[in-house]
Amino acid sequence: MNREEDFILDPDLAGEDLLEMTLRPTSLDEFVGQRSVRERLAIYIQAARGRGEPLDHVLLYGPPGLGKTTLAHIIAHELGVGIRMTSGPAVERPGDLAAILTNLGSGDVLFIDEIHRLHRTVEEVLYPAMEDFALDIVIGKGPSARSLRLDLPPFTLVGATTRAGSLTSPLRDRFGVVLRLEYYDEEELTRIVHRTARILEVPIEPDSARELARRSRGTPRIANRLLRRLRDYAQVKADGRITRDVARGGLDLLEIDDLGLDRNDHRLLRVIVDAYDGGPVGVETLAAALSEEAQTLEEVYEPFLIQRGLLQRTQRGRMATRFTYEHLGLPAPRRDPQDQVALFGDEEVDGPG
Ligand SMILES: Nc1ncnc2c1ncn2[C@@H]1O[C@H](COP(=O)(O)OP(=O)(O)OP(=O)(O)O)[C@@H](O)[C@H]1O
Ligand SMILES: [Mg+2]
Repeated sequence: MNREEDFILDPDLAGEDLLEMTLRPTSLDEFVGQRSVRERLAIYIQAARGRGEPLDHVLLYGPPGLGKTTLAHIIAHELGVGIRMTSGPAVERPGDLAAILTNLGSGDVLFIDEIHRLHRTVEEVLYPAMEDFALDIVIGKGPSARSLRLDLPPFTLVGATTRAGSLTSPLRDRFGVVLRLEYYDEEELTRIVHRTARILEVPIEPDSARELARRSRGTPRIANRLLRRLRDYAQVKADGRITRDVARGGLDLLEIDDLGLDRNDHRLLRVIVDAYDGGPVGVETLAAALSEEAQTLEEVYEPFLIQRGLLQRTQRGRMATRFTYEHLGLPAPRRDPQDQVALFGDEEVDGPG
């Protein structure tokens, strides 16, 4: 990539942890878990290659760290095409996107991370680009303005988002393939831990790998991060091997509990339980109490807590569950039966992802 193009790239992507990149699987076969996503992609990719056409546009969605960026690279690799990467907030003007689009090679993958954060005016450039591989340009102003249509090379847009619900429907409708990534199970995460340990050349006992997997919130990125911290711990406190004791000691030092909740998760649950009597409490209020962004709560912390039954999203706000009290080692509040229904109500409102 040449210098002039660098400015278009999201600085976050450019400064992305190098290690994380070396840990990325590069082919579908190497990609652990997400079986149905892998199977579908394998078929669509093979079919597109067979026809000599670009792959249909792909939308990947799901919580952070589950492999969306990794899959975008894998798609390009498996298609045997180039990849250009950018992100929603990085593309500021329609002209920026036009520049990226006109520079694509035929069949290339254009990866747009955080695609729900594209500016509306930029998004509108995408519609004809996705549909007809064309760019509509307006020349001149006022009554003499003319519209001109430029052909683009065929390409595959791969969009990633943690909030599919925030995508406008015209954009969502233009993706032919929509794939939702799920949290990984313990067995899959254990395989990922072993794989990363091999790459980092750090010896780890099977029991420790499983313990680590169990506490990784179903998320490969967290598994990899915990492994690196345990490697540090093993190096300083032991002989470099991640034994069972090292895993326990290291994870306790990080204040990761047996469900994988860290201090932030505990703070969140404690605020609901202690300050709001189990809820309901609005997400904005909760965010203010924790000095976090509501969006961070919704995208990073809540999905896992909800999935594990430790938090409920209701019309009126967030609520603790019976399991929340149990997990925190607290007695569930005693209320009369009427209130009990209110406290543990089941009017769950499904989040966007
Ligand atoms: N299926 C997998 N097998 C092995 N490693 C994986 C897998 N999925 C993700 N990883 C690892 O987890 C890390 C995070 O993955 P990735 O960056 O693709 O997540 P993401 O979904 O794009 O996250 P974000 O929403 O924060 O952008 C990567 O370093 C990658 O090596
Ligand atoms: Mg990513």
